[in-house]
Amino acid sequence: MIDNRTGLLGVIGDPIEHSLSPALHNFVLEKLNLNYCYHSFHVARDRLRDYFQGFHILDFRGINVTIPHKESVIPFMTQLSPEARILEAVNTIHFELNVITGYNTDSAGFLKSLGEIRNQLKNNQIIVLGAGGSARAIIYALITQQVGEIRIFNRTPAKAENLALCFRDKMAYRNIFGHPMKKDQLSAVMADAFLMINTTSVGMHPNVTASPLDPAIEIPASIGVYDLIYNPMKTQLLQRAQAYGAWTLNGLDMLIFQGIAALEIWLNRSIDAQPFLPELRRHLIALLGDASVQKD
Ligand code: ATR
Repeated sequence: MIDNRTGLLGVIGDPIEHSLSPALHNFVLEKLNLNYCYHSFHVARDRLRDYFQGFHILDFRGINVTIPHKESVIPFMTQLSPEARILEAVNTIHFELNVITGYNTDSAGFLKSLGEIRNQLKNNQIIVLGAGGSARAIIYALITQQVGEIRIFNRTPAKAENLALCFRDKMAYRNIFGHPMKKDQLSAVMADAFLMINTTSVGMHPNVTASPLDPAIEIPASIGVYDLIYNPMKTQLLQRAQAYGAWTLNGLDMLIFQGIAALEIWLNRSIDAQPFLPELRRHLIALLGDASVQKD
């Protein structure tokens, strides 16, 4: 119930109407019996300054940030977490008196979503499809886990190469390479890889028959295939991977865990999601069935 002490949280983006974040956060807040409410705000780029003043005046505890503002909010921050600085993107903002701190919980959410598999990353070879903002967050997370090698495949090869250079420079990680999305190169690398992660939007609703992978490429049964897309829950890529006997993961748990990591920052406490995770998944999946929701 909302009362005089209800704390304020929210998410800004443009568009924002189909964001799952309010459903996710309000579900968790209710489960934990915490007196906060979480709203979504449709914020155009030229209104960012006004909204920041508003959040300050209204004593907001925190907000999430989604497309297209993850980079443009940075000038409003007093300080950035190490992740946000390296990723050059903020998805979580914490307001404390006059200090505004920008965080990025995407990498932490990704690692948490892997569960036990996280312990097997070390020294293994990983393929990343795509070279945008999501790829950046995934690669940062992989490097912190000391993976053996990262191969980035992208439609625009220069972007893959630049991203590889960026991590060589910023994290002194040498075993990272950019490639064009070419069938033969990808097939050769897949034979030895432990995990392949799709960070592109190819296959996302409504383009559910599309796949980032050339249909002629055979997927080895030994590989794991993780698609960051969760709408649909089983993309064309994951369907094919399963048909070849590979193990698969979709993006729903990353969405959940990046959100929980934000709550942990705002509330300055750790949250054990396990007791309500199955119910939360069902809740979000039901909403996904309802509408074409956006990424976060
Ligand atoms: P995000 O923040 O979600 O990563 P992004 O920064 O716009 O979004 O990056 C989107 C990624 O998906 C890019 O790697 C893009 O490839 P390009 O660098 O060649 O643009 C990739 N992508 C998007 N649509 C694609 C398509 N139809 N085919 C192949 N790759 C695509």
